[in-house]
Amino acid sequence: MQLDKRRIAITGGFGTLGLAAVQAALGAGAQVVAIDRADAPAEGIGQATCIGGVDLADPKAAKQALAAAAKALGGLDALVNIAGTFRYETVADGSVDTWDLLYRVNLRTAVAASQAALEHLHAGGRIINIGAASALKAGAGVGAYTASKSGVMRFTEALAEELKSRDITVNALLPSILDTPPNRADMPDADFARWVKPEQLADVIVFLLSKQSSAITGALIPVTGRV
Ligand SMILES: NC(=O)c1ccc[n+]([C@@H]2O[C@H](COP(=O)([O-])OP(=O)(O)OC[C@H]3O[C@@H](n4cnc5c(N)ncnc54)[C@H](OP(=O)(O)O)[C@@H]3O)[C@@H](O)[C@H]2O)c1
Repeated sequence: MQLDKRRIAITGGFGTLGLAAVQAALGAGAQVVAIDRADAPAEGIGQATCIGGVDLADPKAAKQALAAAAKALGGLDALVNIAGTFRYETVADGSVDTWDLLYRVNLRTAVAASQAALEHLHAGGRIINIGAASALKAGAGVGAYTASKSGVMRFTEALAEELKSRDITVNALLPSILDTPPNRADMPDADFARWVKPEQLADVIVFLLSKQSSAITGALIPVTGRV
């Protein structure tokens, strides 16, 4: 799967999945800018340009960051919205503030970054969002998280319809548990082999960025390994 110097901005690009997506896109021949709230990535990020210290939930900051990304790349072909987070909290013992936090970090960042990217994207462009398989049916303790990720899924469908006339596709991937160091620490007795590795999800992101996926838009695609 080749990305032929396609110019791609990846949010949350300094996190676990973000780094895997950056490496996979670079490996497929893309030019990449990683945007994140953290100041700098904890590990090497290859040939990617880094834009750190950006709160993408702030529309002005998102606009500036996407403009800087498009300038660094000489244009923009795709945006991958990976910035996000997770909280486990029951309603009885939790805080209403957690619902605001997850809405802000998981949904508002994707909306603000996408709106900012639309000034630069053109026909053949791509937007890829990260939802969550767990948002298809919530369980105890994940109400705020799944509500925010359900928002990402409805946002994906709405924007896909809106952008059909511009020939820009918008899709969401719905991962289950990823095989990350924090998840291993939280669930030490789980069978890690059944989880999706960030590199596997990054391969699906590369497919959605490629020309071969041009007929797919508005899709919510579960990527759940053997969970
Ligand atoms: N890990 C899983 O099992 C799993 C499962 C399903 C879905 N997902 C989704 O996959 C995505 C990546 O997960 P991950 O495990 O790679 O998480 P991660 O390692 O925590 O990476 C997320 C990155 O997003 C950044 N970020 C958070 N809020 C931001 C904001 N307002 N503006 C800009 N950047 C922001 C974080 O920066 P800070 O470190 O400064 O906060 C972090 O670098 C998330 O959307 C997550 O919800 C993950």
